[in-house]
Amino acid sequence: MRLDKFLADNSQYSRAQIKRLMHREEVTVNGVVVKDPSVKVSDEDNVVLEGQTMRSIGLRYFMLHKPKGYVCSTDDPEHMSVLTLLDEKDRFGLHMAGRLDLDTTGLVLLTDDGQWSHRVTSPKHDCPKRYRVWLDEPLADDVEQRFLDGVQLHGERHLTKPATLERIDDTEVLLTISEGKYHQVKRMFAAVDNKVVDLHRESIGGVALDPDLAEGEYRPLTASEVAALG
Ligand code: URA
Repeated sequence: MRLDKFLADNSQYSRAQIKRLMHREEVTVNGVVVKDPSVKVSDEDNVVLEGQTMRSIGLRYFMLHKPKGYVCSTDDPEHMSVLTLLDEKDRFGLHMAGRLDLDTTGLVLLTDDGQWSHRVTSPKHDCPKRYRVWLDEPLADDVEQRFLDGVQLHGERHLTKPATLERIDDTEVLLTISEGKYHQVKRMFAAVDNKVVDLHRESIGGVALDPDLAEGEYRPLTASEVAALG
């Protein structure tokens, strides 16, 4: 990685400030003063800034309580990305381990660890996701069984994998699925002639949305939460 990016990612300074510090000979790599911000450094290099050895902050993992009106992407010209809710350096270096729709609320995991997010989202890993779902019509009696058996979604080749449904009341349910097809929950209820009016993700694998996080708030995952999904 470029030296100025490494230093900006791992210090309180911006890239412009780092360049000025380099010009003032405040940066050495392996004992040699370096003034060129484009020099490439790796984990093996000893980088010193203002007399302090710099360590990589390392991989980052967060949970966010997503509000409605934000998108889990960075290329939507009309809506703000959930990444804008984070007050972190290099926040656009993070990505979402599983997306929620614009009008869905709840747990979103964010990281810069691509292998970890792959394990969370890959259908091969069968990571269960629990959603609280509010429905337009009272739930029909056979839906628990139909979701266990798998339903045919429009345009898909295979039935959905077995999903479990817990009835809270006629129009509020908890649904646990282990895949993440496009608009999957909404399409599953459409397949049984109902309609989702509100959707909230409560948990992914063993990690539940922290009840202390208000909509729009986030916190780092604990080491055991990272390990539970990794
Ligand atoms: N399924 C949906 O239909 N929407 C979401 O946001 C998540 C799962």
